[in-house]
Amino acid sequence: MSQCSFIEQKKDKNFDQTGSIEYFSEREIQKALDFHKSIPDYAETNLSELKDYSKSVGLKNVYVKDESSRFGINSFKGLGASYAMGNIIAEKLGVPIEELSFEEMISDEVREKLGEVTFISCTDGNHGRGVAWVGEKLKQKVYIYMNKGAAEDRVKNIEALGAEVTVTDVNYDDTIRLVKELGEEKGWVVVQDTSWEGYEDIPKWIMQGYASLVLEAYQQMEREQLEKPTHVFLQAGVGAMAGGACGVITNLTKEDMPYTLIVEPNESACYYKSAEVADGERHFVTGDLDTIMAGLACGEPGTIAWDVIGEYADAYIKGPDWATANGMRMYANPVENDPSIVSGESGAVSLGYLNELMTNDDLKDAREKMGLDENSVVLLISTEGDTDKANYKDVVWYGKYSKFE
Ligand SMILES: Cc1ncc(COP(=O)(O)O)c(C=O)c1O
Repeated sequence: MSQCSFIEQKKDKNFDQTGSIEYFSEREIQKALDFHKSIPDYAETNLSELKDYSKSVGLKNVYVKDESSRFGINSFKGLGASYAMGNIIAEKLGVPIEELSFEEMISDEVREKLGEVTFISCTDGNHGRGVAWVGEKLKQKVYIYMNKGAAEDRVKNIEALGAEVTVTDVNYDDTIRLVKELGEEKGWVVVQDTSWEGYEDIPKWIMQGYASLVLEAYQQMEREQLEKPTHVFLQAGVGAMAGGACGVITNLTKEDMPYTLIVEPNESACYYKSAEVADGERHFVTGDLDTIMAGLACGEPGTIAWDVIGEYADAYIKGPDWATANGMRMYANPVENDPSIVSGESGAVSLGYLNELMTNDDLKDAREKMGLDENSVVLLISTEGDTDKANYKDVVWYGKYSKFE
């Protein structure tokens, strides 16, 4: 039976460094959060505590930032799409983003000024739903391309927002290449969360948009006088969320930075592979990337994300589908008085792996290296709810993907 594997990469972190880390200063991310607050659907998402679970495995506390309710689209992804599309429109209008509220951005007046702007994006589901959600409000045309094997539920959710969806017969990374070519050929705006050479502004805005959820969480902790986390688990696909989150956490905490762990599925563990090769470069994973963690099934780290993660993350973990399935079941059926949380395949993985770290003695060495003990406060991000309802039910009700299979 396949297990979790762990690799640590201790380094001297340079907190004065310039470069990509500057994109995630508190000031920059506050700007993104202020933009999000101008969206009528905005509400803070819950920061829950799993106190009884923590006690049961010998931790001090576990916080969960539950993104399933974000903007009514069941994942955190609208944070990035809205902020990037806001910046694209602000640039076209020649105004600073601070002066453009979401309401103004979607107004008829702005639409008349800009004329037709067509957007195109590649997605496993959640990002495309975010782009389609903003595109519908802008009353603009949106084309979404999805990798082969995309879940029917996820396709329907995007179509319901008026976007035209095409499911390709290639994997995520090859679908991105297709979208890039189509965007160039047709003059459409590519809204992609992964960066490549010469395409960094839009992914940077998306990452800043994602990072606002972490700033929001730190502000909630401050307000509720909660102890700051000693450990943070960040799941990565292309790493836009993990890179943005790691960036703002670095800037908020500097020398007191929590131990930061990057979390991936076995099948698409490109950050893990890059850490293993350890030459400072990105390394790719190819093939079908066949995992139930659809949002994490990406084999190529984004360039900005790698700049930040490669420099500031402490360790990497990869693991099997049954471990995230356990995470989904654990969230749904919590210990004693802990809250129940609906968490999907890519959302629950950090709890699934944390539980392996705390309870599986094959991972004792990793647990000790990480210093996970009764003084540890762990921050997890449940990045999605039940975005594939059929699979959610198969896993949580009917026990699909069991450790004992
Ligand atoms: C639910 C969920 N969690 C995490 C991620 C990972 O985000 P990123 O691709 O920015 O690493 C995704 C990406 O689609 C996702 O949908």
